[in-house]
Amino acid sequence: MGVEICVEGLTKSFGHQVIWQDVSLTLPAGEVSVMLGPSGTGKSVFLKTLVGLLKPERGSITIAGQDITKLRERDLYEVRKLFGVLFQDGALFGSMSLYDNIAFPLREHTRHPENEVRRIVLEKMDMVGLIGAEDKLPGEISGGMRKRAGLARALVLDPEIILFDEPDSGLDPVRVAYLNQLIVDLNAQIDATFLIVTHDIASARLVPDNIGLLFRRELVMFGPRQELLTSDEPVVRQFLHGRMQGPIGMAEEKDAAQVEQELAELGTGASTGDGEASAAPMTPRLLPGPGVTRPPRWQAIAEREAELHQPQKKPEPEREPEQKEVTDA
Ligand SMILES: Nc1ncnc2c1ncn2[C@@H]1O[C@H](COP(=O)(O)OP(=O)(O)O)[C@@H](O)[C@H]1O
Ligand SMILES: [Mg+2]
Repeated sequence: MGVEICVEGLTKSFGHQVIWQDVSLTLPAGEVSVMLGPSGTGKSVFLKTLVGLLKPERGSITIAGQDITKLRERDLYEVRKLFGVLFQDGALFGSMSLYDNIAFPLREHTRHPENEVRRIVLEKMDMVGLIGAEDKLPGEISGGMRKRAGLARALVLDPEIILFDEPDSGLDPVRVAYLNQLIVDLNAQIDATFLIVTHDIASARLVPDNIGLLFRRELVMFGPRQELLTSDEPVVRQFLHGRMQGPIGMAEEKDAAQVEQELAELGTGASTGDGEASAAPMTPRLLPGPGVTRPPRWQAIAEREAELHQPQKKPEPEREPEQKEVTDA
């Protein structure tokens, strides 16, 4: 399940400052997408716009047949129930136990009796591995646990869409690995549409079906992970390889001449071939863990991955049928 989100020609400004313009993409139902971008490029603004907390100047966001940019506040309130959002810092109430934090949306938005609230809260706490920590206060637990508590809270209303704002920020690499596995397992279990904003390249290579990149007020690219990971587009390659050389600089933008020179030095200019992309091959996608039942789409992903990573089965470029011998594979 999960629902598709179709964004077309979206532009967001604050006063005279254009944050991004003409952003178009489709988040396919039930799939995991990652949005990458240097800090300050408006990734959080994008998430807030998707849930209707910020109004775009132009464009549309179509969810379940409705353009949510045109909705009145009370209809928007209904649409927001489709969303679960994991904010950057977990956004937990500091004086409330984890149990009460996670129960909060249920008590706000439903009329479930307390025993039903309890059943749901404990089910979600179990999903994210927090059983036993019900009485803890947010200040008494690690950053990783706070993220998981935020995630449990994002899950309690059984959302069709889950938005993650930098779920991996501030976590050590081991906790990031656990969180990534948790995200993939959850997607297989609840099959909602996921959008993860991050600048962690390693996670972006492992976790999603689709990757997008925001840079200089534009969506540079959005598409299936294999397209982005093998892309020749300089910004995409610089970002995915975490290099200093390329269009992205410390102060966000470099002048064109410098970029040209750096790319030439790297031998990755437009004229040269695909040297480095093949040196950093496609990372295999993270699959759901052994105990997790996989819906049919995961079978398809597993098969596609197996094909992508079989060395002898490299896709050959289409060739014209000529008199030359072509069957060397
Ligand atoms: N409510 C707001 N009012 C004015 N400017 C804002 C507001 N929210 C964000 N911005 C600006 O939008 C830009 C993008 O911010 P943000 O989405 O937080 O970037 P990212 O999440 O990619 O690091 C920043 O320059 C920020 O100052
Ligand atoms: Mg942000």
